[in-house]
Amino acid sequence: MKAIIFTKYGTPDVLELKEIDKPVPKDDEVLVKVHAASVNDWDWGLLRGKPLILRPIYGFLKPRVNILGVDVAGQVEAVGRNVKNFQPGDEVLGDLSESGFGGFAEYVCASENALALKPAGMTFEEAATIPHAAMLAVQGLVDKGQIKKGQKVLINGAGGGVGTFGVQIAKLYGVEITGVDSSDKLDMMRSVGFDHVIDYKQEDFTKNGQGYDLILDAKTTRSPFDYARALNPGGIYVTVGGSMGRLLQALVLAPWIFLFSKKSIRILGLKPNKDLAYMNELFENGKIKCVIDGPFKLNEVPRAIQYFGEGKHKGKVVISVEHANET
Ligand SMILES: NC(=O)c1ccc[n+]([C@@H]2O[C@H](COP(=O)([O-])OP(=O)(O)OC[C@H]3O[C@@H](n4cnc5c(N)ncnc54)[C@H](OP(=O)(O)O)[C@@H]3O)[C@@H](O)[C@H]2O)c1
Repeated sequence: MKAIIFTKYGTPDVLELKEIDKPVPKDDEVLVKVHAASVNDWDWGLLRGKPLILRPIYGFLKPRVNILGVDVAGQVEAVGRNVKNFQPGDEVLGDLSESGFGGFAEYVCASENALALKPAGMTFEEAATIPHAAMLAVQGLVDKGQIKKGQKVLINGAGGGVGTFGVQIAKLYGVEITGVDSSDKLDMMRSVGFDHVIDYKQEDFTKNGQGYDLILDAKTTRSPFDYARALNPGGIYVTVGGSMGRLLQALVLAPWIFLFSKKSIRILGLKPNKDLAYMNELFENGKIKCVIDGPFKLNEVPRAIQYFGEGKHKGKVVISVEHANET
């Protein structure tokens, strides 16, 4: 099969399209014929061996994982003998971040826990946008953020995967919502439902005098005191990601900020795939649209990851995987 392989950390130039053996599923694994995948911060970080703190897990000097890609959508080709929930021919989607990565390839083996059935009316490209980003958005807004009707909500770093799903989920709760990102994404952000948009290069939302009941941050770059200042009394700030230093600062200072201001600073630890059934239901009921940037082809994965890393994308960068007998 064809796969995008990396054997050393570096820039997207180290990625190579190679012909390798098709994987064979273990007893508890499902072999998926990949039709689409999408790019995530995991891919951009792991490719460059960053953050360094994760090297004990992913390899000190060279990567232990040789095929990137955590979000996949495809068709079940074969199942191991202990697999109970899937059979050949099923159309599936899932986040493989706990199942060994490997989505940028024609086939991948995954634990059955990492997969869910794909609704029939959802394309593979749409399905590949959902697992990672939509779970971060649901769990950030609903589980950690305890979003409520009538609130003023803000999403920082709102033009990517988390923000474009987040706004649509938040709108189901009847909130007024602001999105913050760079200027070329603001029109797209309005089109997916943001009531107000802010160009972070022109305006600092932590200093504009507006107060928010809930802030979801995909790109934490400031001190937790800045975020607390932007919260209304009793407000909640949830970060799903950002600079490691800022996340550690948030972890250490959150109890003190709560003690003195009753404002909550929270960090989300993603539970992969937990809310896939909920997202499928929203999609089938026409409540959610997937924002696709691309699709790129499998041999264009290096370019797609570079584009993602430069922050030029809108919504999700999608890879469409064609198979020889389909072209
Ligand atoms: N909590 C967990 O367990 C967990 C697990 C996996 C991943 N994550 C994290 O979750 C996040 C995923 O977000 P995503 O997929 O939506 O990322 P994304 O698609 O890269 O979107 C982030 C957006 O933020 C914008 N941005 C960059 N700097 C900014 C700034 N200073 N202020 C405001 N916006 C800024 C980027 O655009 P420009 O570059 O054009 O400005 C981009 O549009 C990542 O931070 C990832 O590391 C968390």
